[in-house]
Amino acid sequence: MAMAFSLSMMMFLFSLMAVSPLLVHNSNAQSIVSGLSWNFYNYSCPQLVPIIRNQLRIVFRNDPTLPAAVLRLHFHDCFVQGCDGSVLLDGSASGPGEKNAPPNLTLRPEAFAAIEDLRRRVHQVCGQVVSCTDIVALAARESVFLSGGSIYRVPLGRRDGTNFATIDQVLNDLPFPQANVSSLIPFFLSRNLSITDMVTLSGAHSIGVSNCSSFRERLYPNQDFSMDQTFATTLRGICPTNTSTGGTNLDVLTPRQFDNRYFVNLVNRRGLLTSDQDLFTDARTSPIVTTYARRPLFFLEQFGLAMIKMGQINVLTGTEGEIRANCAARNARTATSTMLEVDGDEQEIATY
Ligand code: HEM
Repeated sequence: MAMAFSLSMMMFLFSLMAVSPLLVHNSNAQSIVSGLSWNFYNYSCPQLVPIIRNQLRIVFRNDPTLPAAVLRLHFHDCFVQGCDGSVLLDGSASGPGEKNAPPNLTLRPEAFAAIEDLRRRVHQVCGQVVSCTDIVALAARESVFLSGGSIYRVPLGRRDGTNFATIDQVLNDLPFPQANVSSLIPFFLSRNLSITDMVTLSGAHSIGVSNCSSFRERLYPNQDFSMDQTFATTLRGICPTNTSTGGTNLDVLTPRQFDNRYFVNLVNRRGLLTSDQDLFTDARTSPIVTTYARRPLFFLEQFGLAMIKMGQINVLTGTEGEIRANCAARNARTATSTMLEVDGDEQEIATY
């Protein structure tokens, strides 16, 4: 009896999920790394989510292209050194910051500014208890949600890193747009993300833009055989030469709506980047593309789950790292006593 009830209950819940236009899925069932929790700021900052959501609503109303830039920031944070907010740090005497690395030069200054503004608002209300990297993770989720995607839950409790990666490290850690599936796979597997996660997360290109420099090799000197002819002609109009500096939407159908049309484009050979289109060309990933092209709600749900996984790559928790008072700079060191040798004598000095 109890079994029959729970079975029918499960079927009912499943049917609700299948038809619900606003997808809220059961991310509680997903495992999270130790140190993170679903309710980390429930007591220390219960206003966190409303502050971020309300402010981003205003910001996105003024600039509807910004959700894409914020979402990309989370990806570029997590793939380099883990989700530790290192992408937000300015360079220092030790060298240029991650922002100066070529793949990050197209991250938008407005996205960095929006994150710092959110930090300021959150710390004003709750004190310096919420990390910049958690704010990025939540802002990325809001970017997806406010653009029409699903509202997945974000495990919280990440701490901010105190150092940033070198330019070479950034170049090694971020996949490049000319990559095919074979070259993309190791970037994901090495971060405990599956090939399916890779396809799912690529669905982030449902929103946002790209510069000609990221795809013009598909047009010049020869046109990529996997590209639809009409699409190629349009793109040549946007990037008339192989040095053109313009740009266009990653999703030609619904560029500001977070949906599965990106996958429909791939099936129609209208993916913008090689790394996009090859997901349909390669036999290992094309069935996943086709499934997402056919099942919009299934894609939105899977995207939320994959984001929860991506958001936990090499996180700092507990007493690791710090909570930055300014997302662009690590905190000033507290005074510690260090023994230094000066003129042959050991002297105690305070360092910061
Ligand atoms: C699979 C490997 C990936 C590659 C090779 C890649 C590459 C790129 C490139 C080249 C651009 C355009 C940059 C420009 O020319 O301005 C871009 C934009 C973007 N990417 Fe990716 N990306 C990948 C995966 C991801 C993932 C996993 C996410 C998020 C979960 C993401 C989110 C975005 C977004 C939202 C934009 C638009 C940004 C804007 O409009 O400012 N990408 N990506």
